Amino acid sequence: MKKVVLITGVSSGFGKEASVLLARAGYTVYGTVRKALEPLPGVHLLNMDLTKPASIDSAVAALLEREAQIDVLINNAGMHLGGPIEETPAELYRRQLDTNLHGMVHLLQAVLPPMRSQGKGLIINFSSIGGLMGLPFQAFYSASKYAIEGLSEALRMEVQAFGIKVVLVNPGDFHTSNTANRINVCDEKGPYAKQFEISKACFESDETNGGKPEVMARTLLKIVRAKRPRHRYVVASLDQKLAVLLKRILPSCWFMPILTSHYGFKKKANNLLSP
Ligand SMILES: NC(=O)c1ccc[n+]([C@@H]2O[C@H](COP(=O)([O-])OP(=O)(O)OC[C@H]3O[C@@H](n4cnc5c(N)ncnc54)[C@H](OP(=O)(O)O)[C@@H]3O)[C@@H](O)[C@H]2O)c1
Repeated sequence: MKKVVLITGVSSGFGKEASVLLARAGYTVYGTVRKALEPLPGVHLLNMDLTKPASIDSAVAALLEREAQIDVLINNAGMHLGGPIEETPAELYRRQLDTNLHGMVHLLQAVLPPMRSQGKGLIINFSSIGGLMGLPFQAFYSASKYAIEGLSEALRMEVQAFGIKVVLVNPGDFHTSNTANRINVCDEKGPYAKQFEISKACFESDETNGGKPEVMARTLLKIVRAKRPRHRYVVASLDQKLAVLLKRILPSCWFMPILTSHYGFKKKANNLLSP
């Protein structure tokens, strides 16, 4: 029997590439979208908005009407907020957490009962390198990914007795629609404006010069096929993998200047305020 994969967010980026690749590799693939989309070869589309719990329930119910089980859940969909913490409106940081964290939790709660009763399953949760280090001007995104880290580590222990495996994926910078879709908020005349523009140019350039989503799609196929998948896959360039290692081993006061210099911070905010 073909394995059934449910993957969220297949309208673009990793989700689009991975859903088509998995379908081509012989899996029965259900991909979620929020709006009408050109058909993707071999992918069954389901409507799901992670900020709307009822849409999550009805998508999972629709899948289970057609399939006897869900073998793999890939929690890929996510939104990305940029801007200084001080100036981010509550509506936006709540939406960041509603999408990346609360939506994922609701979907997990819908998929775990069938996975438990079938006695096996694989859950792949998308974190980020931003889930391993706080990124300036991407604080709420980082916060959502740190939460996914903790949630996934706890979940892994809770469900292993039911034959369910939990994998974390930490992408580095990739060229997807993520950059264009990011919602940036910063007061143009405010105290952070100058530094935000400098740092935004850095992270946007890192992303547009980043990896191709096909690389991530192939990694996901490898994870889905693995008999014993690892707990974590950092899918990133060598320098980004090095940053992850340095973050783990260096004292924070040594690591922070590396990160701030990468994002174009000068030492004193005063320098940034002068024209
Ligand atoms: N690209 C990178 O450099 C990078 C780095 C680290 C981590 N990641 C993570 O990788 C995952 C995929 O991102 P990507 O780079 O492929 O970005 P992307 O091209 O922007 O894709 C994001 C997907 O999530 C969907 N989505 C957004 N809000 C949603 C909601 N409320 N309900 C349901 N679906 C929603 C989008 O659908 P719509 O078209 O409807 O908006 C889209 O299909 C995300 O979790 C992201 O945080 C990406």
